[in-house]
Amino acid sequence: MRRLGPADAEMFAALDREIFGPEAWPEGIIEEQLAHDRIVAIGIDGESGLDAAGMLGLGIEAELLTISVRPERRRQGLAKMIVRRLLELAVGAEACFLEVRASDEGAQRLYRELGFSEVGRRRRYYRDDDAVVMRIDLGLTI
Ligand SMILES: CC(C)(COP(=O)(O)OP(=O)(O)OC[C@H]1O[C@@H](n2cnc3c(N)ncnc32)[C@H](O)[C@@H]1OP(=O)(O)O)[C@@H](O)C(=O)NCCC(=O)NCCS
Repeated sequence: MRRLGPADAEMFAALDREIFGPEAWPEGIIEEQLAHDRIVAIGIDGESGLDAAGMLGLGIEAELLTISVRPERRRQGLAKMIVRRLLELAVGAEACFLEVRASDEGAQRLYRELGFSEVGRRRRYYRDDDAVVMRIDLGLTI
């Protein structure tokens, strides 16, 4: 597991495309985000590129921006490891928020296990789905 920077944009974009298809972020946007001083990213290298990666926006209210794991590496605890590390890096944050597809019960379970709980819903946040907004209190880690 390692911190990612702008030099990893191509690998990050390739993983994103594999998982999110046409909804993946363009590589240029990923490169900008990886260079941003208020964004931290963590990745796990595989044999050909990244097996898993996640990105978090820093601030008083941190935001988990994306997390993805290559299908053949799922259910091995990689997402949990990455989110835990990202939350450790969110120094000074009072809370962390995220949005997850309402239909994605597996991801919601992952976040609940990490300590997040549902605080709201956004109708039609995705083209074809609502979003569940989840939050974890980080106050004690400041
Ligand atoms: C969601 C995702 C990141 C999970 O990654 P992962 O590395 O497989 O997750 P972990 O192995 O850390 O899972 C930890 C726990 O979360 C829960 N969980 C994770 N994925 C699950 C699923 N598909 N169904 C049910 N529970 C799931 C389980 O409780 C799991 O523990 P277990 O395997 O011991 O039962 C991965 O499936 C993925 O990349 N999905 C596509 C992209 C995506 O939807 N990202 C999330 C957007 S909000």
